[in-house]
Amino acid sequence: MTQPAVHPVDPAFAARARITREDYRRDYEESVRDPERFWARIGQRLDWMTPPTVIKDTSFELADFHIRWYADGELNASVNCLDRHLATRGDKTALLFEHDDPTLPAESISYRELHVRVCRLGNALRALGVRKGDRVTIYLPMIPDAVVAMLACARIGAVHSVVFGGFAPQSIADRVADCGSKLIITADEGLRGGKRIALKANVDAALKLPGTNSVETVLVVRHTGAAVDMQMPRDRWFDAVVDSQADACEPERMNAEDPLFILYTSGSTGKPKGVLHTTGGYLVYASYTHECVFDLREDDVYWCTADVGWVTGHSYIVYGPLANGATALVFEGVPNFPDASRFWQVVDRHKVTVFYTAPTAIRALMREGEEPVQATSRASLRLLGTVGEPINPEAWRWYFEVVGESRCPIVDTWWQTETGGILISPLPGATHLKPGSATTPFFGVQPALVDANGHTLQGEAEGNLVLTDSWPGQMRTVYGDHGRFIDTYFRTYPGRYFTGDGARRDADGDWWITGRVDDVINVSGHRIGTAEVESALVSHPKVAEAAVVGFPHDIKGQGIYAYVTLVAGETASDDLRKELVAHVRQEIGPIATPDHLQWAPGLPKTRSGKIMRRILRKIAENAPEQLGDTSTLADPSVVGSLVSERRNA
Ligand code: WT7
Repeated sequence: MTQPAVHPVDPAFAARARITREDYRRDYEESVRDPERFWARIGQRLDWMTPPTVIKDTSFELADFHIRWYADGELNASVNCLDRHLATRGDKTALLFEHDDPTLPAESISYRELHVRVCRLGNALRALGVRKGDRVTIYLPMIPDAVVAMLACARIGAVHSVVFGGFAPQSIADRVADCGSKLIITADEGLRGGKRIALKANVDAALKLPGTNSVETVLVVRHTGAAVDMQMPRDRWFDAVVDSQADACEPERMNAEDPLFILYTSGSTGKPKGVLHTTGGYLVYASYTHECVFDLREDDVYWCTADVGWVTGHSYIVYGPLANGATALVFEGVPNFPDASRFWQVVDRHKVTVFYTAPTAIRALMREGEEPVQATSRASLRLLGTVGEPINPEAWRWYFEVVGESRCPIVDTWWQTETGGILISPLPGATHLKPGSATTPFFGVQPALVDANGHTLQGEAEGNLVLTDSWPGQMRTVYGDHGRFIDTYFRTYPGRYFTGDGARRDADGDWWITGRVDDVINVSGHRIGTAEVESALVSHPKVAEAAVVGFPHDIKGQGIYAYVTLVAGETASDDLRKELVAHVRQEIGPIATPDHLQWAPGLPKTRSGKIMRRILRKIAENAPEQLGDTSTLADPSVVGSLVSERRNA
């Protein structure tokens, strides 16, 4: 194999960086040798109402399983993101808001203003009967009110569950029912790339579905001004309830281990899991990783292009940046509207210094050529980041050379909804860069590789990625199903957290994430469980059976490939294909839209009836020569017909 390109640490960058190579070596060593001492020191970055004395209290051993960080400390996350900045940063911009429509003026919200907005909503929620521990669902576009809503929940101790605006009514209903939300905060409509998204109508449809009776109130933000159905007394206009509230709101005292939020994510089986994060460890970890990985400076203008519907938005638009007193940009739009220059125009308009996005966006923009990038200055940029999926070296180089003009280091940050914050990433003043490699573990993070039997692999190796010890940002449970938490993450390799990812460690000890090794598809950096798409398909009356796999996709990283067997007597047609694709979009949401739907008269199954996905993946990849052994199939002949059907597709 050819040696991958290595970009040594830029000395000019390192000279001003927070963390140098020596700092990293020394602190990493301490963080794993004496985690108590290390995380006690780092924990002091927050304002505690009661400072913690117990720092790390964790065990991955099944007989004594527990994860507690800063367990006797008390704090409030919104106080850490707002109140404590007022004396020194009250007039500093907390949020910059860039509308979908570039002709609308951008908005700037100071820490003082954000504090008032959060307090008013906190008071309104209390007035509507929301109490500490109650769940609140947030289904909003990427507008400042989404940030306000999250922090207002945190202020009164309510547990927020943000549902991405691209999810359909059934997905909203599932998430509301699972956590028993009392209240939903939504908007009349969302706007993305000029297209309207009927958020309120989706909520109305969701609340007609079974299991959603827990919802007493729907607060509706007036965003586009569209007319919506208001069902009194359930539905209330946000401004009518919130604007008249007092500007001060007593923050709830929260134990470090009290829940902060639930965020649903897809797994290899069943319905999405409610990943639960708690207050103290999460906030320490989100804020510290944000400061170190993005080499944060007081005058940075920081832009993460994620949506708050995903964990990246939670940790690196809201909690990390605001706990650090940073200026964060909130963008309502999409990369290619009105044209492929939009990201860079926004960078120039707001003099963005740190820019964090997903490989799928980079690949999509790369396809449009260099001209839309070169039409802009981008002189303010000093650091770039990626997240969500492996970045192919070609896209890395384009990002580095064309977008960053070879001046800005790229931090390729590997982490998961479950991990709360970044686990493997370069630190830009300390770590060399290799296109496609996430390089080194963050402080306190101990990755390891295991083979299928759980044996630890040493040195240069490829295997399944596990973590051998806890870190403060780790999820604590699957909401309402602690057994599923243990089963999913700790039973495969006892004593270790299993990530679901494969990885390689190279001769320098650098980490390369190779992708999911379970039945999760990573579409444009978003996780979709094959089981979810399958169950959406078989819920259609004409479908007898379905099998869904991922396949390589130039822009999305992975696409969704569905094999469908119809019930006897139904005939395959292009119209039915369209109907089934529309059905999946309606059941889950546009992000689960199958890219290919192939008719399958039969599916390759073992004699015990298990679908052999390995074979279906190879057929989807159009690599039938790599099918391998098919002799254990109950009916090997189905493979031939699937292969020829694929060729003709
Ligand atoms: C999965 C987690 C973490 C926020 C966004 C996604 C993949 C994430 C990288 C990266 C290679 C990556 C993994 C992981 N992933 N970042 N830098 N390089 N793969 O969060 O939806 O929980 O997905 O995304 O497969 O397990 P998520």
